[in-house]
Amino acid sequence: MRRDRRPLFAPSRRLSPTGPSDEASEESYLLRKPGKPKSVSRREWALFIWAVLTTMIVIILSVVLQRLSARSNDDAYKRHPRPGPAPYPKPEGKRNLIFMVSDGMGPASLSLTRSFRQYHGNLSIDDVLELDKHFIGSSRTRSSSSLVTDSAAGATAFSCGQKSYNGAISMLPDHTPCGTVLEAAKRAGYMTGLVVTTSITDATPACFASHVNLRLEEDLIAQQEVGEHPLGRVLDLMLGGGRCHFLPNSSVGSCRTDDRDITEVAQKNYGWHYIDSRKQFDQLNNAKTPVKLPLMGLFAPTDLPYELDRRNMEDVYPSLDEMAQFALKTLQEATKYSDKGFFLMIEGSRIDHAGHCNDPAAQVHEVMAYDKAFFSVITFLDESDDQGVLIATSDHETGGLSTAKQLSAHYPQYLWHPKALDRATASAEHLAKQLSTHRISWPYETREELREYLQGLVQKGLGVTDVKDSELDKVIDEPIYAAWNLASIISARAQIGWSTHGHSAVDVNIYGTTGSGNLSGNHENIEVGIFLRDYLNVDVDQITKELVDASQLHNTTNGDTNWTGRIPSEEELAASMGY
Ligand SMILES: *[C@@H]1O[C@H](CO)[C@@H](O)[C@H](O)[C@H]1NC(C)=O
Ligand SMILES: *[C@@H]1O[C@H](CO)[C@@H](O)[C@H](O)[C@H]1NC(C)=O
Ligand SMILES: *[C@@H]1O[C@H](CO)[C@@H](O)[C@H](O)[C@H]1NC(C)=O
Ligand SMILES: *[C@@H]1O[C@H](CO)[C@@H](O)[C@H](O)[C@H]1NC(C)=O
Ligand SMILES: *[C@@H]1O[C@H](CO)[C@@H](O)[C@H](O)[C@H]1NC(C)=O
Ligand SMILES: [Zn+2]
Repeated sequence: MRRDRRPLFAPSRRLSPTGPSDEASEESYLLRKPGKPKSVSRREWALFIWAVLTTMIVIILSVVLQRLSARSNDDAYKRHPRPGPAPYPKPEGKRNLIFMVSDGMGPASLSLTRSFRQYHGNLSIDDVLELDKHFIGSSRTRSSSSLVTDSAAGATAFSCGQKSYNGAISMLPDHTPCGTVLEAAKRAGYMTGLVVTTSITDATPACFASHVNLRLEEDLIAQQEVGEHPLGRVLDLMLGGGRCHFLPNSSVGSCRTDDRDITEVAQKNYGWHYIDSRKQFDQLNNAKTPVKLPLMGLFAPTDLPYELDRRNMEDVYPSLDEMAQFALKTLQEATKYSDKGFFLMIEGSRIDHAGHCNDPAAQVHEVMAYDKAFFSVITFLDESDDQGVLIATSDHETGGLSTAKQLSAHYPQYLWHPKALDRATASAEHLAKQLSTHRISWPYETREELREYLQGLVQKGLGVTDVKDSELDKVIDEPIYAAWNLASIISARAQIGWSTHGHSAVDVNIYGTTGSGNLSGNHENIEVGIFLRDYLNVDVDQITKELVDASQLHNTTNGDTNWTGRIPSEEELAASMGY
């Protein structure tokens, strides 16, 4: 049968060519009276003018009234109050606050991970993430300098409850420091902790316990985190990566520019216990005696590996969930006899990195690891005798992730393939590192030999058996983008789309337990920060005042330095972007 080529919605029949009928004019023609026209009297003129004037007035009045009513409608639309549950009152008595940040996790990451998990576990469609069960609202994420925030401005909104510029670590646009909820909590007698999977000096954790004008000043951040800070030591526990900014430039694995040993400064001057291995972590975790605080555990020179890779290195790195559970247990024990509880920030830091790399396989495992830690916090709150609240949100979305990708100019397909993610056994980042090591070891390999090696790597690591030569060549020809190009091999197979290797401006989700009702609905990110201080009932403004009053030159054991670092130029700020 020949297909009818007419467009689907084309009219099936043309309108009458004669147009609307002429009946009206015909009628008035028939009603016309014959005879000579009479001369018009003055009275009739007056009546005529009166009629014209009143008609005009009626028309003008109705137009004006309509405009006015439209405007008041617009005003009502704009001013309509936010609906929602009655505000929750401030709690009384001892309480704990756990704040979780899923860096770079937008709504599409949840959909991606949920479907992946259902596929992987052959689970029913109503098997949802733990996060899904605690969804309460969404957050608008823009910073003071851009509609698209970075993690520094994003975390400053949470820590200080104020908007600032991309790159700012709890500093305001006028380059004055703003007090953080963690500092205020410490001052009020709470115990405090940070748990992350990236460097502990990275933007999100940094914003809670340090103040610098530019996020790249990680050496200064490390110093402030251990206690070289106008308020002294404000942290009791920190677990994560980022050892390299604590080690002197003379030692292996350092990334400091000076020769100060901050692990030593921490132990000697501020009483920290320092561990740097899984073995020491396990010893403390299994010990019968209470853990001594303050405790600093730095388990990697920079980031901890992605969960997808870490699970093959269980004996080297603790997981986010293990660190979170350890922190909850330790802080609970440490506050047992206190009338104040604790404030703990836990970050699923590398969801963001998987977004930057556009690596969907790495990302689903990061989100699942975060969801597992989230579940542990829920369980902790359920079982704890003390009251507490968990708030979880993201600073922004990363990657412009979309659970669909049009692969050709033809009609798009309505599907994506979780199977393609399930076949991956390593992150693109990990494979790119292996490739780089291989190339350094075999510098004289021919392209053919290198292709063959890479094909094996792709098959084993990404589970892709139909990789094209053009895809392999792209990985070979752009060594600095090897991880991105490897990740795109898997995104194409899974039909997962990405719009950027940076961040996006989309709203992110807010999750919360009972007591977080003030954050239901749609909010600015700073309202999340304001909620945190309100819940703990701590005076952040007093801390701000003290920090501003503190001399610009803060005396450290290293001598006087500008403790918030240099004020960056526009160029430096632009160059610092990327995370
Ligand atoms: C919730 O909001 C109300 C009204 O703004 C405020 O009084 C209350 O302290 C808030 N509760 C919490 C837990 O932040
Ligand atoms: C998946 O689950 C369905 C129903 O629960 C079951 O019938 C099917 O055998 C399972 N498939 C696999 C591969 O386990
Ligand atoms: C290490 O730091 C010291 C100052 O703290 C500096 O003089 C020296 O040049 C640095 N060395 C390197 C290799 O960067
Ligand atoms: C800073 O400390 C050093 C000794 O550590 C001291 O000599 C110096 O006077 C101090 N400076 C200020 C401004 O307090
Ligand atoms: C501190 O910063 C000011 C201006 O930004 C500069 O003039 C001064 O030299 C700096 N001092 C130190 C010790 O870095
Ligand atoms: Zn980022």
